[in-house]
Amino acid sequence: MMEIRYSQVYFLPVFLFINGVSLQQTVVGFIGGSAVLPCSSKDLPHTIQSIGVYWRHSGQNVYGIIYGKVSVKGQHPEYRNRTESFPEEYLRGNFSIKLNNLQHTDAGEYKCYIIKESFVQIVKLLIKEKPERPTSEGTKPRPEMTVMISILYTGIIFSLTVTV
Ligand SMILES: *[C@@H]1O[C@H](CO)[C@@H](O)[C@H](O)[C@H]1NC(C)=O
Repeated sequence: MMEIRYSQVYFLPVFLFINGVSLQQTVVGFIGGSAVLPCSSKDLPHTIQSIGVYWRHSGQNVYGIIYGKVSVKGQHPEYRNRTESFPEEYLRGNFSIKLNNLQHTDAGEYKCYIIKESFVQIVKLLIKEKPERPTSEGTKPRPEMTVMISILYTGIIFSLTVTV
């Protein structure tokens, strides 16, 4: 049996009502961090060899599990060495993947196709800037710089007007 998680319970009624064939979840990741994109099958696979799963993002190949083996054939270069899955979870029907070193371009909809199932699972990935650390000294002087530059420009424009 598939474990029903809180987020799935939350999205399930809304999405089934609209679409009837897809499941949708949202995951938040931070630049440079990593995110687990969830995908689970309803029925547990009988054997490892019977497993076939594809992950896609905007039509690009992100990841594949074919006959129970990881396949990065045809993987878009953007995802090279940044993806992993959890082989010890396969027989539990868990085909989630982990995407490392997150970039802004990773944001968007990921689709998980489990070959034996008739519906697609959609994971929406939101990418945010790293949360600010409370003691950040190195990243301070920006507002002051902006003020200084505008004072400088005002000064230049003023002196030009005066000379003309
Ligand atoms: C699937 O496996 C990943 C990695 O171990 C874990 O984070 C996730 O919670 C699992 N999902 C389910 C539905 O068990």
